[in-house]
Amino acid sequence: MINSDNMANSFDISVHSLAGNGRDGLCSGRLPLAQTEEGRRAPSLTVDDHAKQQATFYLETFGCQMNEHDSEKVAGVLLARGYKQVESVEAASVVLYNTCSIREKAAQKVFSRLGEFRFAQRQDQLIGVLGCVAQQEGEKIFTRAPWVNLVCGSASYRKLPQLLAELEAGNRRVTGLETDTDETFETEVTRRDNPWRAYLTIIEGCDKACSYCVVPFTRGPERSRSSASILEEVRKLAGAGYTEVQLLGQTVNSYADPSARGMRFSELLVAVAEVQGIRRVRFTTSHPRDFGKDIVEAMETVPEVCEHVHLPVQSGSTKVLRAMARTYTRDEYLEKIAMLRAAKREISLTTDIIVGFPGETDKDFEETLSLLDAAQYDGAFSFKYSPRPNTPSLKIADAIPEEEKSRRLALLMEKQREIQRARNEKLVGRHFEVMVEGKSRRENQWSGHTSSNKVMNFTSREQESLGDYLQVKVISATPNSLVGEKLSAAAIHGV
Ligand code: 5AD
Ligand code: SF4
Repeated sequence: MINSDNMANSFDISVHSLAGNGRDGLCSGRLPLAQTEEGRRAPSLTVDDHAKQQATFYLETFGCQMNEHDSEKVAGVLLARGYKQVESVEAASVVLYNTCSIREKAAQKVFSRLGEFRFAQRQDQLIGVLGCVAQQEGEKIFTRAPWVNLVCGSASYRKLPQLLAELEAGNRRVTGLETDTDETFETEVTRRDNPWRAYLTIIEGCDKACSYCVVPFTRGPERSRSSASILEEVRKLAGAGYTEVQLLGQTVNSYADPSARGMRFSELLVAVAEVQGIRRVRFTTSHPRDFGKDIVEAMETVPEVCEHVHLPVQSGSTKVLRAMARTYTRDEYLEKIAMLRAAKREISLTTDIIVGFPGETDKDFEETLSLLDAAQYDGAFSFKYSPRPNTPSLKIADAIPEEEKSRRLALLMEKQREIQRARNEKLVGRHFEVMVEGKSRRENQWSGHTSSNKVMNFTSREQESLGDYLQVKVISATPNSLVGEKLSAAAIHGV
């Protein structure tokens, strides 16, 4: 559950819009429409209307990569139904928000969007709330925002075509809120955002019960996809020109193949990497408890498996880890790190940390700081503890004041920044393979990621093609990125 493109980040939410700038078009100086009581201003788009004018949708996504990828699949389902994706709320007949509720601010954001929409909504527009806030709040959303027409959690996405059909038929209160499912959301029609890197969810939901986390409530129990269906999709992706595959799951390494083949996660990694045309396989997020030697061995022996592991620790204090119900101690976690550091390949490591969990003393926090020294992470996402509905940690006494959380967060980020600066500086002079992902506005400047998931900004005088793989030499470093120059073929071959 990370967004690993930026290292050493602290944020409450990352907002990403599949359809362009999410805020554009909202409340843009238009006069509010007359609003009547609940239900009265139901927009009236009928099947006939749909046939007459092409239905359009606007989709904005909040939160993690799982949500981003869910949105790619949701967009695919709508496109397959004849809808066209548009870049603004105004141009859309259906407005969808795929929501996140991991921290309070993320959830609030959605309600502020819904509030804005209330005054901008046209008679013919429908609005849907998808994802974690939909699951968490359920039908209460209709009470709080009666102009909403669809509320659907991620465990019900399989029913989307049916739910859309109900909306098209004129039903104005449509819900998909079941979580007791053993289904995963698979669709042939995913509309992917990136032409080289494909996300692929291999396990949905979460069976861990970390005491601060809403995910087990909002995404339901763990459901793994069959290895055959995953590999089939990877083969199709490779055939379509994708070279990088990112396997996703809230606890990706808890993958349990439901088919008779019974592939372990490490075996699946190898099988995906062996698909012709695939050059990089990434996976996120790993849970420390299920992170075994077999995964390290797969990384050691198969170069296509990228040399990066995201292994959230959450706290460096065994006492806090116990209160968080993380199922490992500080020492057990550090043993996993030692195993990764001892690997034959250099593996970069990133983590998630929560500061200010209820009852976290100065001493506990010091232990988190000292764990940073011991683990030497290449990146860390750090968060202030945010109390969430339904979670067991709500009942834990000794809440930490907001200012103290902020103080701890700042200290932690500063320390981690220095660790990253030192780690990246040690890479100066070394060569790395980089996938070309972007061109800067500055002349001859390009950017991409190394296998270890470091951002590399580099110079090349040639016209590079996005999606290509190049060898780049590191010439300087910052805490969050490397600066390099492309190696010529002669330099690579030592001529
Ligand atoms: N408060 C703060 N951070 C949280 N996370 C999950 N739940 C909470 C919460 N209630 C963080 C964890 C997790 C990351 C995705 O979000 O660090 O790994
Ligand atoms: Fe939340 Fe813990 Fe599951 Fe991660 S492993 S999704 S933090 S309950």
